[in-house]
Amino acid sequence: MKAAIIYFSNSGITEKLAKRIKKDTDGELIRVIPDKEYGGYFISIVKMIGEKITGKTRDFVNDIPDLSEYDTVFVGYPIWGGKAPVILQNFLKKCDLRGKRVIPFATAGASGIKSSVEGLKVVCSGTQVKYPFGTSKKNKGDYRSWMEKVKQ
Ligand SMILES: Cc1cc2nc3c(=O)[nH]c(=O)nc-3n(C[C@H](O)[C@H](O)[C@H](O)COP(=O)(O)O)c2cc1C
Repeated sequence: MKAAIIYFSNSGITEKLAKRIKKDTDGELIRVIPDKEYGGYFISIVKMIGEKITGKTRDFVNDIPDLSEYDTVFVGYPIWGGKAPVILQNFLKKCDLRGKRVIPFATAGASGIKSSVEGLKVVCSGTQVKYPFGTSKKNKGDYRSWMEKVKQ
C-alpha cells in the first residue's frame, strides 16, 4: 500500500489519529489548513452553522497535492453536525482521487462515522470508499483490527 493521509483537525484529536496512521503505513501526511482558524468549540459550532446557512465556508491555504503515486488515500476529519466538515469536502473535490481506495476515519464526541460516509461517497465519486473507521469519546473504535484489515 502506498498511502496519503489527508486530514482536517480543528482541535488536534483527529491529527493525533492521522499521525498514528502515518506511523503504521509510512504514508504522507497532508493537513488541510483553513485560511482562518475556526477557534474553540462553541465559536466553531456557530461558524459551522453560519457556513450551512450562507453556503460560504473557510478556504484552505494548501496547494492541491499530486496523488498519482498513491493507491490509497486515508481521509480524516472530526464529525461536525454528523458530517465531514465542508472545508475538507471542498478540498477533496479538487483532488484527483479517481481509481483510488479512499478510507475515511473520523473522531467525534459521540457520533459514529456512518452518517458522514454517504456524503463522502458523493464527493469522492469514481473511487472506492471503504473501511470507514470512527472513534469517539463514547465509543472507542478498535484501531488495531481496523488497521490489520486495511493492510490486507
Ligand atoms: C463545529 C463542531 C461540530 C461538532 N459536531 C459533532 C457531532 O455532530 N457529533 C459528535 O459526536 N461530535 C461533534 N463535535 C465534536 C468533535 O467531532 C470532536 O470533538 C472531534 O474529536 C474533534 O476533532 P479535532 O480535534 O480533530 O477537531 C463537533 C465539534 C465541533 C467543533
